[in-house]
Amino acid sequence: MVSKLNLSERLSLSRLSLGVWRMNQWNLSNEALRALFECVVELGITTIDHADIYGGYTCEERFGAIVPSSLRQKMQLVTKCGIKLVSPNRPEHRLKTYDISAKHILASVDTSLKNLRTDYLDALLLHRPNPLMNADEIAEAFTALRKSGKVLELGVSNFTPSQVSLLQSRLSFKLITNQIEFSVLHLAPMYDGTLDQAQERAMPPMAWSPLAGGRLFGEGEQAWRVRSELLSIANELGRSLEQVALAWIMKHPSKPMPILGSGKLERLKDAANADSLALSDEHWFRILRASTGGDVP
Ligand SMILES: NC(=O)c1ccc[n+]([C@@H]2O[C@H](COP(=O)([O-])OP(=O)(O)OC[C@H]3O[C@@H](n4cnc5c(N)ncnc54)[C@H](OP(=O)(O)O)[C@@H]3O)[C@@H](O)[C@H]2O)c1
Repeated sequence: MVSKLNLSERLSLSRLSLGVWRMNQWNLSNEALRALFECVVELGITTIDHADIYGGYTCEERFGAIVPSSLRQKMQLVTKCGIKLVSPNRPEHRLKTYDISAKHILASVDTSLKNLRTDYLDALLLHRPNPLMNADEIAEAFTALRKSGKVLELGVSNFTPSQVSLLQSRLSFKLITNQIEFSVLHLAPMYDGTLDQAQERAMPPMAWSPLAGGRLFGEGEQAWRVRSELLSIANELGRSLEQVALAWIMKHPSKPMPILGSGKLERLKDAANADSLALSDEHWFRILRASTGGDVP
């Protein structure tokens, strides 16, 4: 059973969550999708990661239509807003832009609540920083959302440490997470201050594309090197390569929470076991060396 991480008095998320960015590509019927969600909740993967834009603005609505409220009550729904895509479902968008104005955030939450058929979101994240963002205005919207009970907790995604500090400086409550890309093939957050800040603020990050979006299984020298080291450790420990790759992320003391992206139940079942795998420092550094292709940085 996947464990829970307590992020605040109001919210705990499962240590591994399921992201639905690729949901429409999983080629599952609505019945098969509902069964998949029921099974992942049974495994303890109770946190589902959405965004308004997933599936060209269709995933939230499809999910809301499929998942009965009895199942939703066992889940934590995280969604994001702030990217305006050019899409047939948003004919008013003529150009891809970012919008994290108070007006857009509040309207986006109402749309997400309606689409997901729920009266509250467990967490709302700003999908991307916007060079034009006004921290005071965002803080006002965040405070109103939290007060109204429409959203339990708030956070950000793909923010730099200084952007997190800026927004946090205007809030009377803690941002709960910064959702960032982090994996055995994407080490940047360990060296650009992102994970230092997460640890400093006791703000566990959500890690997107934890298997590098499938690149880990593809071509390329780095992927090949890392795969070979992961496999060797997996064989030593009697675990799967995927579990070792996820355990590598979770060993970081900032307590990253990987967001799984597979639509295959067997893979999700296997991944759930990563929660019980504690890698030794030696194993962890062997993987780091394989990723950098040389000595440890
Ligand atoms: N905040 C952001 O900006 C942001 C950006 C990107 C993603 N996200 C979130 O992060 C979630 C996860 O991202 P992700 O989908 O890139 O995660 P991922 O788990 O790194 O990649 C999933 C992809 O890898 C494939 N895969 C998994 N195991 C495999 C294996 N053993 N062999 C071959 N292929 C394998 C999956 O295919 P199968 O389905 O066939 O298993 C799927 O196509 C998204 O759903 C979204 O919620 C957030």
